[in-house]
Amino acid sequence: MTWPADRDTELFAIIEAEVERQNTTLQLIASENFASPAVMEATGSVLTNKYSEGYPGKRYYGGNEVIDQAEDLARDRVKALFGAEYANVQPHSGANANLAVYHALLEPGDTVLGLRLDQGGHLTHGSPVNASGRLYRFVSYGVTPSDERIDFDQVRDLALAERPKLIVAGATAYPRTIDPAPFRAIADEVGALFMFDAAHVMGLIAGGAHPSPVGLADVVTFTTHKTLRGPRGGCILARADLGPAIDKAVFPGMQGGPLDHVIAAKAVAFREAATPEFTAYAHQIVRNAQALAESLAGHGLRLVSGGTDNHLMLVDLRSFDADLSGKKARLALDRAGISLNENTVPDDPRPPYITSGLRIGTPAVTTQGMVEADMATVGDLVHRVLVGRESDAEVAAVRDDVQALCGKFTPYPGLAARG
Ligand SMILES: Cc1ncc(COP(=O)(O)O)c(C=O)c1O
Repeated sequence: MTWPADRDTELFAIIEAEVERQNTTLQLIASENFASPAVMEATGSVLTNKYSEGYPGKRYYGGNEVIDQAEDLARDRVKALFGAEYANVQPHSGANANLAVYHALLEPGDTVLGLRLDQGGHLTHGSPVNASGRLYRFVSYGVTPSDERIDFDQVRDLALAERPKLIVAGATAYPRTIDPAPFRAIADEVGALFMFDAAHVMGLIAGGAHPSPVGLADVVTFTTHKTLRGPRGGCILARADLGPAIDKAVFPGMQGGPLDHVIAAKAVAFREAATPEFTAYAHQIVRNAQALAESLAGHGLRLVSGGTDNHLMLVDLRSFDADLSGKKARLALDRAGISLNENTVPDDPRPPYITSGLRIGTPAVTTQGMVEADMATVGDLVHRVLVGRESDAEVAAVRDDVQALCGKFTPYPGLAARG
């Protein structure tokens, strides 16, 4: 071998610093999780070396007889997990999965309904700075001002007026269950296709904690790295008759060679998600979110829609402290070792890079083994930072308490820094 024998201490010191950060600080970003050692082992495997443009049994490169087995296993497992007729496990990300579906089902300029970005929708649901918004004519529905839940009257009125070719459900920052049934009914009424973007909640669906859109929606897209706890990537499920068009849209339409190491890791995650332990995990994520929401509300923080029934909550900071933007709060919490993100709240008067809210999620802390009582502690820690943010001593004291809490729930004890 002519590989360098010396260790790349510069880069691996950075990775070790990240291991230390993940082991000693609180990860409350709703879209993050801790992948299992088996998922990471597959991601770091020799499958990264292979080129395999095409699909199992129909590749443009030789030497794919082993790779075909991995992709077939991933497809079979995800179809069995969700009861789907068709699966494509090649999208490199959730964004790629969504764009591939649009590429398969739409022509440029076609009308699509999606959730407003400032009320929880994703960039790929029609943002003007995203290819979705540049190529297709997105019309947005929102949440009601009264209960801050999806306004199905508005969805139906817009569908009847705009006659969209596709209706997109799903969200990146919405704390309530999204029922696929009313979307299906409206899509049928206007002759539209229906896509459910389950990026955030697919782990909750796998574990039976949320209703499944598979079978109701024509297409379901999702990411494998959020509540589903797999490697970073995307996936598409659909009715069998849409499969050929979606396959063509992913490759050669959107991507070149698939990430075979990631597809193998997706297969590992799909197997993990089919276990009774994962079912218990999915329900615990929701119970933890509800316990954390209760703790925060008890400290006087307003929760968008009054609470949560999934893995995340949105905190509206305006009534708590008019001077405290989401960004200011996030920066203060970061200093205390609490990672989360600022987020717009419905009808937010502040711009999207400042915001008046915080998005807080429980998938990662639940993987660590924390339960409801720990969520009360986490709520106290967050509140202490929001109140004491001007005091370096208080922020440092919270940081010590965060480290002590994480010390009881270290996600990767086997990966402690080498020193
Ligand atoms: C609803 C939704 N769709 C799609 C995506 C895109 O996923 P990725 O970041 O893997 O491109 C996200 C990511 O946050 C999301 O929340």
